[in-house]
This record gives sequence, structure tokens and C-alpha cells, in this order.
Amino acid sequence: MTALANEISHKTQIITEYLSSRGLEAASFDVNGLAKFPIPPQDQIPFRARLELASAAKELYDISVGPKQDLRDLAWDRHRLVHEGLTAKVEAMNGNLPIGVLNLRRLLRHAMTNRIFCEKTKNQVGHTRVSRLLLKDEPLRNWAGFVCNDMWLPIANTVEAMKQWPGSDEPTETGVNLAYKHNLPWFDFIHQDQTLANRYNQAMKAHGGTSGSSVEDVVNGYPWANLGEATVVDMGGNQGYISMTIAEAHPALNFIAQDQAGMRTPETIGTVPDHLANRVQLTTHGFFTPQREVADCYFFLRAILHGFSDKYCVKILQALVPALRKGSVVVVNDGALPELGTASYVEERAMRTLDLMMQVTVNAHEREADDWTDLFARADNRYHVERVWTPERSVMSFVEVVWTGED
Ligand SMILES: C[S@@+](CC[C@H](N)C(=O)[O-])C[C@H]1O[C@@H](n2cnc3c(N)ncnc32)[C@H](O)[C@@H]1O
Repeated sequence: MTALANEISHKTQIITEYLSSRGLEAASFDVNGLAKFPIPPQDQIPFRARLELASAAKELYDISVGPKQDLRDLAWDRHRLVHEGLTAKVEAMNGNLPIGVLNLRRLLRHAMTNRIFCEKTKNQVGHTRVSRLLLKDEPLRNWAGFVCNDMWLPIANTVEAMKQWPGSDEPTETGVNLAYKHNLPWFDFIHQDQTLANRYNQAMKAHGGTSGSSVEDVVNGYPWANLGEATVVDMGGNQGYISMTIAEAHPALNFIAQDQAGMRTPETIGTVPDHLANRVQLTTHGFFTPQREVADCYFFLRAILHGFSDKYCVKILQALVPALRKGSVVVVNDGALPELGTASYVEERAMRTLDLMMQVTVNAHEREADDWTDLFARADNRYHVERVWTPERSVMSFVEVVWTGED
């Protein structure tokens, strides 16, 4: 405990000295406080110190409550999920309380133990930075809604799905299928319901803002400038927000962000700002039909292959072959499971949770560096994996693959 306390003190000092030397504030739960620390990843020492501080503080907290209570809390604290979903609703209730005052009070007071709302004077509820974020930050609110509302039952059904379909690699044999009693793959399921599809889209946007898998990591982690004037096909590009961010930074690049037809209906399709309209197109293409874009294309798959078991990834990579010409490049940016003991607690936990979520929704999994070479070789031996690398501080790897087949 003393060693941890010393580490916490040391890391805190690194962070506070960094902030005060630049006249910056720390993040705070105060309603007007900063929602995140103003320490960019490029400032490696304080950036890492903050991750290490969070890991050490969590470990010290866990030790101080002890294993027995820690385990009890782990189950007990699922209550957190209830009120995170409630926050937005309270705002909309406008004095009309279908759940009754007593229930509202108990939910709010429990929420406050997680720093959602505060009560400085008895019965006077105010916002904290967290509750205000839930109100104002649309992607983040949808992220909370997606996890709490849509994922809650599937998570609870996942072990049952594992027992019912042992070792399955089918996207129709998951906790989602059991929870919602259907036999559709995940994306077909969400496209049936506009509200769910929109919530998922917004949630993906918020996921792109998390530490270690941010859109900045995509822009800075790959040498896009070396492509010169080129077109990048962003396969499964959702509403094009990754394409648009890279396009902003690299004016010589054009993007075709492909996605399923369900993402391109008048109700679901995203908006490309005017200044990018002639460089970023939102089009329709399914992974399992032969790819039709050829030309000088680079194919980019971000957060796609981790959503499919090996069996289906092989099919996706085979469907890409008709579009490939000698020297065509396929770039994958996807979760990187860290080697044992190489990541901080915060990063490791994020990746392990994502790995589980892949199981819950689609029976897929995150991959380690070696897995990529095996996967491309299984799809077609004319794929040559040039390199696999994980940018510093990122939890997502880049895999650069060159097509060696003839035209
Ligand atoms: C996890 S999201 C990743 C979105 C984006 N590439 C990113 O990095 O945030 C997966 C995307 O793949 C799309 N998708 C899923 N199945 C597909 C299919 N069979 N064909 C085309 N797109 C698909 C989904 O609609 C979704 O937008």
C-alpha cells in the first residue's frame, strides 16, 4: 500500500507540475469544470503519468476495500447503469414524475455516489460535470444509452449463449440473439429499428473519442501523406466521420465511405459538410459482395474485422480480391490485444471489455499481432502483410497489407 501511495503521489506531482507550468486546470466534476485533462498524447510523460495514476489509484482503492467487498461491489455496482440511463429522462420530465418522488429521490441520491448530479443543499439537485455531459454531449449520452439500455440484456444472456452454442463463430448465436429472441446478425437487427441504429451510430462516434482509440490516433498513426493524391475506400465507414477527419488533415485524399444500405436511408444517412462534399462520398456496399471500387484505391477497414469471427473475415477479404491490382494496399486499424503485462490497467481493461463486447454482440474477438498474418494468409496467399504496428499509447493496431497478385 505504501508503494502504491508513493506512486500516486509521484504521478500526481508530475501531472500538477505540468498543468501549473502551463497555467492549465485539472479535470473536475464541478459543473463548469474540464471534462478531460488537457494533456495531449504527444506530451508523453504527463500523459502516461495520468494513466498510471488512474491504475495505481484504482489498485489502492481495491486493496483498501479488500477482496471480499471488492467482489461484492463488483456485482452490486451494476446499479450504476440504471441511473446513467435515467439522467436524460429526468431533464425531460419537467415536473411530471411517472416514477414517483420517492423513487426519483433514491435514484438521484444513488447517482450522486457516482458523481452524477449533486445536492449541495438538501433537496436542491444540481448538475455535476458528468450529468451535464450526459445532457449536452449527444454521442456520449447515446454511448451510455447503448451500453445501459441495449446491451444490458445481451450481456446477461452471453454465458447462456456460450453454453447453448459452444465455440460458435456464427453472428446469429449470441447473447443478443437470446436476449431479443431473433436469429438475425447484429447489424441486420439494428437496421430494423431506426432509434437503435441511430443510437449505435452516435455511440460509435463517442467510442472514437476514447483514449487509445481516438480519431486523432487514426490521423496521426498512419502515414497518410505518403499516399499522395489517392482515393481511400473506407469500408464500413459508418457516416464517414473517420474519412472526414482524415480528409480535413490531408487535402490530397478523397474518400468513399461505404456502409450497408440501412445506414444510407433518408432517416439514417449522415451529413458531409459542404467544404468536404466533393471529397467524401457516402455510398452503399456490403462486405460479402465482390468489391466494385478499383482504380487507385486504398482499402481501409477500421474497427471492422474485430466484428467478425475468422470464418467471416476470410469471406470479407476474399470478396475484396476482384478490386485488387498488383500493389494495391489494404490498411486495417483494429483492436490490439496487448501482450501480457505490456499495457496499463486502464488500457488493458478497455481492450478486454471490448473483446467481451465482440463476443456478446457478434461472436467475434479482438486479435493479437500474429493473428493478422494468419488471417490474411487463410483468405488468400497473395495478400502480403507488410507490417503490424501499434502506435504509442494507442489500443488499436495498424496492419498494412499489399496485394502481390497480378492484375
Ligand atoms: C464498428 S463500426 C465501425 C465504423 C467505423 N469504421 C469506425 O471506425 O468507427 C462497423 C461498421 O460496419 C458496418 N457494417 C457491418 N456489417 C456490414 C456489412 N456486411 N457490409 C458493410 N458494412 C457493414 C456497420 O454498419 C458499421 O458502420
